[in-house]
Amino acid sequence: MAVGIDDLSLYVPRLYVDAEDFANARGIDAAKLQRGLGIEQMAIVDANQDPACLAANACLQVMQKNKLSPEDIGRLYVATESALDESKAMNSYVIGMLEQVYGSGSFQHCGGIECKFACVSGSYALYDNSNWIRAGESEGKHALVVVSDIAKYDLGSSGEVTQGAGAVAMLLNDSPRLLEFDPKVTSTSIKNEYDFYRPFGKETPIVHGQYSNMLYLIQVKNALVDYERKAVATNLIKPKDGETILDYIDYINMHLPYSNMGKKALAYLVRHEWRKTPRWTKIIQSVGMDEPVPKDPRGTIESVLADTEFMQKDAEFTKRFAKTEEYQDVYESKVASSLLASRMIGNLYTASLYLGFRSTLEFEFQKGVDLEGKRFGFASYGSGSSAMVFSGVIMPEYKEAVKDMNIEVELGQRKKLSLDEYEQIHENKLTPDQPLLNAQKEFILVDIGTKPESRGERRYRFAE
Ligand code: CAA
Repeated sequence: MAVGIDDLSLYVPRLYVDAEDFANARGIDAAKLQRGLGIEQMAIVDANQDPACLAANACLQVMQKNKLSPEDIGRLYVATESALDESKAMNSYVIGMLEQVYGSGSFQHCGGIECKFACVSGSYALYDNSNWIRAGESEGKHALVVVSDIAKYDLGSSGEVTQGAGAVAMLLNDSPRLLEFDPKVTSTSIKNEYDFYRPFGKETPIVHGQYSNMLYLIQVKNALVDYERKAVATNLIKPKDGETILDYIDYINMHLPYSNMGKKALAYLVRHEWRKTPRWTKIIQSVGMDEPVPKDPRGTIESVLADTEFMQKDAEFTKRFAKTEEYQDVYESKVASSLLASRMIGNLYTASLYLGFRSTLEFEFQKGVDLEGKRFGFASYGSGSSAMVFSGVIMPEYKEAVKDMNIEVELGQRKKLSLDEYEQIHENKLTPDQPLLNAQKEFILVDIGTKPESRGERRYRFAE
């Protein structure tokens, strides 16, 4: 049975911090953000927004765009790592908000949960809901999977430059107009790790930045290796001699904690794949140096990171490799469009991969590329840690969903925050009744209960 994404909507808060202002305030070279990490602006939530509001706004948009009523939705899942409660699931807040528009009890039939596994949980939610449809349980209804997060790091920490906020709501069904998932190839890799985690009660994560970067690459590569095995075993892809699986994937969308992570991951994955092909000899000639090997090739991530000679040589190799015609070609054709939206919006944790997907659709469509039949690969990563690799093919009716996509229009008139305003919001100095913007046709947080019997109860309203 065909299963896939029928349509998707993006909701991004309209406040942002500019990379240059941020760099000046923190005494960092702006080029590190703009060229090194690929960040121009980071979306920031207003004082009356939380991850549940972002999720509800994305859901409302996708339902209104497709003229759906609550009876058309059989499941509503929220994947997030910005949980609001240790027990109450975020989809219940979202249903409460949607029922303000569609009527009390209108979603009563609709099951769902909140899913957690750092940034990869949205991909697990898509997979599980696809299987609900494949199992014939959906009775013709859609599953609505929404990924929503506020990426927030400590002031002055190395992660502070990689913040952002937003949500993507995806409609799944058995006759998708946008993308049909390839069956039986979804592959995962999992390992107990502490690269990035947020202990109970702590609002911001504890992060081992360089460790997390390397673990991301290794985990995604492991999942890709398994994807390759399954794609060949199921005859989905039949690479000929000298070819690799990546030659058959037209677009690659990666988890993007920052835009340039997509470039970094692409270089790592293609090096892994091309190394075993005859084309590698020519590439090594163009690079002009051999691929460096760590002192202890079977060592830990810590030992590799501590091997400064290797790390420097590897950075040099990657820099030269990224300049080769072969890499440039694969980068421009398969990845570049996916990175554009992330530059303007920043890190959306669970939603980052799907912001990249959305970015590819919009910017390739704008270039006039016909996407019908193109295979999209997805490389999802969540700290803690797990990766998932899967793929799908663009459907003939995709233009119905893509033709009106325009991130700049959807972002609307954004307000650039001063560093002082940003820090006030970051440090929770403003209450929900002190927003910086007037909300219009969107859900907002009104207040959070403080009395012992109602502590943590959140009230929302739809601002007309
Ligand atoms: N001009 C141009 N480029 C510059 C520069 C300058 N003046 N200074 C530095 N750069 C470049 C560096 O060369 C580097 O590029 P490469 O990666 O291509 O080598 C890049 O800018 C970043 O520089 P550093 O690595 O020195 O930066 P950093 O030590 O401050 O750490 C980071 C970067 C690890 C991403 C940090 O921001 C961080 O900890 N972020 C949070 C964790 C994170 O995002 N991890 C990603 C993987 S885990 C994950 O994906 C889950 C998730 O969503 C969090």
